[in-house]
Amino acid sequence: MKIVSVVGARPQFVKLAPIDHAARAAGVDHVIVHTGQHYDPMLSDVFFDDLGISKPDVHLGVGSGSHGVQTGSMLAALDAVFDEHRPDWVLVYGDTNSTVAAALSAVKMHIPVAHLEAGLRSFNRRMPEEHNRVLTDHAADLLLAPTEVAVEHLAHEGLSARTVLVGDVMTDVLFQVRDQVAGTPSPLIDELGLEPGGFYVATIHRPDNTDDPSRLAEIAAGLADLGKPVVLLAHPRVVARAAAHGIALTQGSLIAHAPLAYPDLIAAVVSSAGVVTDSGGLQKEAFLLRVPCTTVRTETEWVETVQLGWNVLVHTAQEIAAGVTREKPTDTDEAPYGDGHAAARVIAVLTGDSR
Ligand code: UD1
Repeated sequence: MKIVSVVGARPQFVKLAPIDHAARAAGVDHVIVHTGQHYDPMLSDVFFDDLGISKPDVHLGVGSGSHGVQTGSMLAALDAVFDEHRPDWVLVYGDTNSTVAAALSAVKMHIPVAHLEAGLRSFNRRMPEEHNRVLTDHAADLLLAPTEVAVEHLAHEGLSARTVLVGDVMTDVLFQVRDQVAGTPSPLIDELGLEPGGFYVATIHRPDNTDDPSRLAEIAAGLADLGKPVVLLAHPRVVARAAAHGIALTQGSLIAHAPLAYPDLIAAVVSSAGVVTDSGGLQKEAFLLRVPCTTVRTETEWVETVQLGWNVLVHTAQEIAAGVTREKPTDTDEAPYGDGHAAARVIAVLTGDSR
């Protein structure tokens, strides 16, 4: 049994970790293809090192570009890779340009494609991720859904026959890393001289929040005005846009900082008073760690975090301030993102062991 995983961007490396471990444990020949969409060491290499992922077997080195150029370069390069390896399954992850490129290439070569994290929808057609996930779900042969809500979305689109509910592999890796870092102080706290529980962790990188200078300026000003230090773990996109438009990312309570390695991020979130983000994954990580989250978006794919009271959606600077100072939500035993054993289920489904 041979599975080719195609990954390229930071959140995909996190999801790849438990899959790689489960595949190796099951004796699967697991080939890892890195498209090169993310190439900065802090967005790529540290995840392979810290999360014990096997080195990529193939690196396409496509780098950055417009959506068409980036996706097209991957498509052109993947045909030869799939032709050489002829796997039983191509496994694609999430909703990035690397996901849709690999799904399209494989389906056209009649190689079975499985989509991990299938069925998520924001219903916002301005988001590149929404195009990528809808197109990938409709191209794929097997839809590995993380949640009941995702299963329902796929059913509405006529895709039930290809859908299997496996749980969320991000829960697997998060629980493992949370246990590893438990009891060790967050390196960020030492470095910046923060008080445990006395700061917020922020990430902002979506084009809708970064590319319009007045929007980015409003978010930066809103974060700079909060009553506790706000550590902005700045993705290269936000750094570049802020520099281009003369917007300070360190001002008032706002402190810009390079992105963190995964264990350091989890340790920082655990010690924080709350998270402010437009990332998909971080909303869920905050929920799983029971840290209140304030999401700077008009909608979320992870609706359970909002329904259970641990996440609020905000837009203006005033709403950000109201979000972070709201009362701590009531605790819950609900586990909409699974039990931390999703990756083993994924491999069992792909190898036919679960049938
Ligand atoms: C991509 C995903 C997004 C995911 C995010 C996680 C798509 C459409 N979007 O967005 O869903 O949430 O990854 O981080 O696939 N850059 C660097 N170094 C890098 C990579 C990017 O400097 O290693 C800069 C480049 O200027 C590039 C920009 O960041 O143009 C955006 O990178 P890109 O890969 O196009 O999308 P992300 O915003 O990272």
